[in-house]
Amino acid sequence: MISEVGLAERSCQVDTYLNRRLELVRGEGVYLYTAAGERYLDMMSNYGVNILGYGHPAVTRALTAQISHLPALHCSFNNDVRAAASRALIDRLGGSYRRLYWSNSGAEAIEAALKFAVLATGRKRFIACRDGYHGKTLGALSATHGSKYRAAFEPLLWEFCHIDFGSAEALESAIDDETAAFLVEPIQGESGVLIPDATYLRAVREICDRTGVLLILDEIQTGAGRTGTFLASRHSGVDGDIVCLGKGIAGGVPIGITATTAEVADRIGRSAHTSTFGGNPLACAGVLAVLGVLDDSFLAEVAAKGRVFMERLSELDSPLVKAVRGSGLMIGVEVFSKRNEILQSLQRARILTIPAGENVVRFLPPYVIDEAHLESVVETLNRTSPWRR
Ligand SMILES: Cc1ncc(COP(=O)(O)O)c(C=O)c1O
Repeated sequence: MISEVGLAERSCQVDTYLNRRLELVRGEGVYLYTAAGERYLDMMSNYGVNILGYGHPAVTRALTAQISHLPALHCSFNNDVRAAASRALIDRLGGSYRRLYWSNSGAEAIEAALKFAVLATGRKRFIACRDGYHGKTLGALSATHGSKYRAAFEPLLWEFCHIDFGSAEALESAIDDETAAFLVEPIQGESGVLIPDATYLRAVREICDRTGVLLILDEIQTGAGRTGTFLASRHSGVDGDIVCLGKGIAGGVPIGITATTAEVADRIGRSAHTSTFGGNPLACAGVLAVLGVLDDSFLAEVAAKGRVFMERLSELDSPLVKAVRGSGLMIGVEVFSKRNEILQSLQRARILTIPAGENVVRFLPPYVIDEAHLESVVETLNRTSPWRR
């Protein structure tokens, strides 16, 4: 049954989204609520956005203060909050990242990265990965793989070639004199929480250094602490020439960030890329508040909770389970079949998860989840009917 609100929405909107047939009006902690007060455990943080749950005091304080103070200010004017957020983020990123470009979504962060790579190298050929997901605006879509997203819009931009994820050899043979950059997710999220070999990113970095090809890391889903380190690429000790962030780094306010080295930034000219809303003080206040929470000890807890949850999921007694994989609180359970039934039965049990790839139940819980919540998910899975058979 679609609710009245659901019908009202659907009759007014272009119908591009999956419909979960659930109307949510409020969030608190790790829970989302319907208008009737029914409570759902959020095991997906709105596709990875509400990383600190709902109503986190530091985030709420920062955003409400800033919205009454000065929510938007074009980057041609300077602003104290933006300056502080820029400094704090560059310090938190560390390594070779020295400059930021602010935008409003993950796809926009990718758009900027692609343009920066063209400007920095003078080349327009890109390599990305099969099953990679980078967003759906035309530049980002050129990098995103998969005919279900691309077919109607081809030909897309410039020249993108897609190679096997996890294969340094494939990268080596795909590079030519015209290649500007290699764009890769440290862990492929949308296509099923796919984790490459631990040596992969280091081999990629070495190839890019040797050939003069820029390395663009898409950490829109994996970044901001999701895997228990601020950047997932830090598990391999690798920096990109460019890294893209988005999702929850501004505490739930729309955000995209393209961070890069001084060498790349020095080659980007004035007006090459701008955005009316990019760097708005509201999002910057959210970034400052989130960074204030995501210190190393907090992220160590994210890693520890993820380990426990993965262990418990691996013990699940079901013939449906093909694999359990993940890093920190980014976890996928691949099943042989019935993925959508499992999602629906969890939703009926008031636990919200999201799909990934063809056969993966994806968990991206808020970092403030505790072990009792995670245990309740395991218990529910053990009881739900599609799971048992
Ligand atoms: C790895 C990755 N890159 C890019 C994007 C696109 O972000 P947005 O939907 O904010 O445009 C996503 C969104 O899920 C993502 O997971």
